[in-house]
Amino acid sequence: MLIIYLGKSEILMSQKLFITIEEIFRTSITNNTIKVRGWIYRTRSSGNIVFIMLRDSTGYLQATIKKDNIGEKEFKDAKKSLVESSVELEGVIKEDKRAPGGYELQTLGFKIIQFAEPFPIVEDQSPEFLLDKRHLWIRSQKLTSIMKIRSTVVGAIHNFFRERGFFEFDAPILQPTQTEGGSTLFEVKYYNKKTFLAQTWQLYAEAAIFSLEKIYNMGPTFRAEKSKTSRHLSEFWMAEMEVAWMDLNEVINIAKDEIKYILVDVLKNNKKDLEILNQDYNKLKKISNSKFPTITYSEAIEILKKKENMIIDWGKDLRTIEEDKLLKQFDTPIVVTNYPIEIMAFYKPEDPKYPKTALCFDMIAPDGYGEIIGGSQRSTDADNMKKRLMDSGEKIENYEWYFDLRKYGSVPHSGYGLGVERLVSWICNLDNIKDAIPFPRTMLRFKP
Ligand code: 4AD
Ligand code: MG
Repeated sequence: MLIIYLGKSEILMSQKLFITIEEIFRTSITNNTIKVRGWIYRTRSSGNIVFIMLRDSTGYLQATIKKDNIGEKEFKDAKKSLVESSVELEGVIKEDKRAPGGYELQTLGFKIIQFAEPFPIVEDQSPEFLLDKRHLWIRSQKLTSIMKIRSTVVGAIHNFFRERGFFEFDAPILQPTQTEGGSTLFEVKYYNKKTFLAQTWQLYAEAAIFSLEKIYNMGPTFRAEKSKTSRHLSEFWMAEMEVAWMDLNEVINIAKDEIKYILVDVLKNNKKDLEILNQDYNKLKKISNSKFPTITYSEAIEILKKKENMIIDWGKDLRTIEEDKLLKQFDTPIVVTNYPIEIMAFYKPEDPKYPKTALCFDMIAPDGYGEIIGGSQRSTDADNMKKRLMDSGEKIENYEWYFDLRKYGSVPHSGYGLGVERLVSWICNLDNIKDAIPFPRTMLRFKP
């Protein structure tokens, strides 16, 4: 809501007259007196004038403070305020072509809320230093835009599933078993026993589809990844879904729709942020209107052989380099199905049409962002799953509860998990997944 006041005296009568910087640029409020508050992003002074770039959560506004226009003490305060000091300003908005955005505030009142100490972050600091100072660096323009886009993405995921009649369902984070392979489990001391942090919500979701049928969730997920790539976090957020009665192709179609839905929401709400992040708006828009192709793993290997002269033994997982080369042939995310069953988790069933492959899929993003979604139909063959678990050294009794689900009204069902940070990295054009989450945890970092 924007309220325009005629004079300074009216402003001073109320404490609730602050407007946001975004409102200043959106409305024609020139020549009116307003109040804004925020933090000093940049400041310089010469003689009897101080130039401040003020930022709030909505944008950046230039303010000029002339000694003649405000009290002596206020001017002194303005002059000595360092970057990141918190302030309230009052003044008149004037059009000024030289000012960023075309408007500036001619300041008539300056109130210091807190004088900041010298800010430790200055230009051109190393990525590691910025990660050490992450609690301060999240104020940067870049991270602010990323976090705004992340917020849109998270909101869109909830809306997408709720609009389609899915229930939100929560699973435990502390889980007694692995789902996606024992090598990336985080062990937790649990009183005098041990348990693990969730690698996925899936097994518990499979219990819930027998009453709720269509469910989703988005929550923290943990993998002790022993890789230091730009795509791996130890703690990340996964948005998962699980549906009774659906087969692989039906959930693949939902996954494609979900990504497009999220893109449309970001395009609608974050145009400015995409610009700040040097992301090509039109490219994303085109993708949001495109069909995402589906190919099989075997077809992917053929494409790599023919177009990239790469020789890949059938049966090996696609590595980063192969995913990236493959995606050079496409302008949109693609879905790859039917990976070799040997390298797949125990719950992915064999495809009767293509033996030795699983009824599973990955969605791979273009531009080198790799796998953003992994999913599958779920096996209904308890004996086969038990064998596969035993072959990988697991104790079957730890999974008895899960195999109960195959005894009482078992139905075909499928689901997938979307890596929220992988998607945010792609949408935001990031060099490293660490910037897609406020406080990243990786093999080498768990602070601050
Ligand atoms: O492919 P994943 O391992 O699939 C599962 O966990 C299934 N249980 C999901 C399901 O069917 N409900 O992980 C899903 C997605 C990946 O495609 C990737 O985007 C992301 O989670 N992901 C990671 N993101 C960041 N850092 C990591 N270490 C990640 N590991 C997986
Ligand atoms: Mg996967």
